[in-house]
Amino acid sequence: MRLDKFIGDTTELSRTDAKKAIKNGRVWVNGTTAKKPDIKVTEVDKVKLDERELIHRKHYYIALNKPVGYVCSTRDPDYPTVSELLPAYVQHRELHAAGRLDVDTTGLVLLTDDGKWSHDITSPRKQKEKVYQVTTESPIEESYVQAFANGVYLDNDEKVTLPAKLEIHNETHATLILTEGRYHQVKRMFESVGNKVIALHRSKIACFKLPGDLELGEYRELSDKEASDIISSTL
Ligand code: URA
Repeated sequence: MRLDKFIGDTTELSRTDAKKAIKNGRVWVNGTTAKKPDIKVTEVDKVKLDERELIHRKHYYIALNKPVGYVCSTRDPDYPTVSELLPAYVQHRELHAAGRLDVDTTGLVLLTDDGKWSHDITSPRKQKEKVYQVTTESPIEESYVQAFANGVYLDNDEKVTLPAKLEIHNETHATLILTEGRYHQVKRMFESVGNKVIALHRSKIACFKLPGDLELGEYRELSDKEASDIISSTL
C-alpha cells in the first residue's frame, strides 16, 4: 500500500498530514528517510514516524476504561459512543465491544474489529469470567451467595443464570463473577433477590485486569500476546 495510507491507517494523522510529515523528513522506511508519499510499503517494511515504529495490524485489540455517560453501541441518539474516545486511526476501523457495559457502568471494555475474538470472549460456552465490583442500595445478604451459585430467574428469561460467584466485602460492596453477559445481568440478578445496584464497575475479563494506570476515558492497545492470552486462558 502507499506510504501515506499506511501512516493514516496506523497513526492519528490524516492522509494530508501524513504527506506533510513525509515532506518534512519525519518518516523513515527501513532506515532511510522517505521522500515520496506514493512509495509502496508492506507489513514487512519497518516504518517509523519520528522515533515511533508503526505497526500495520490485521486486527485491533483495545482496552478502554469506560466512564459513565458513554454507550458501547456503535451509534446512539442520546449519548456519545465509546469509540469517540479512541483516536481517528482506529475509529475508521469500526470496532465493536466484546461485551457491552451500560451507560452508567464504568470500567473495562475490550474493543476490536476481530469478530471471532469477541465471540470467544462473550460466548457463555467459552466460560470466560467477567468480574464486576458492585455497590448496592440495601445490605447484601449472605443468602445471595448460594442463590447466585445456583442460578436465578431474571424476569422474562426462560433459563436460570449460569452459576456465578459472589464475594461479599462489606454491607453494600461485593465482587460478582459471571461467565455470561445477558442484558443488564448484574442489575437484574440483584433485583431478583430484592436489592438494587447503585454503582457498577467491570475490573477484569478472563485473565485481563483493567490496567491500574488507565484513567477513566483512557485506552491502550493490547499486544498480540495479551490478545491471544485472553482467548486461551481457562478463566
Ligand atoms: N450487568 C449490568 O447490569 N450492567 C452492565 O453494564 C454490565 C453487566
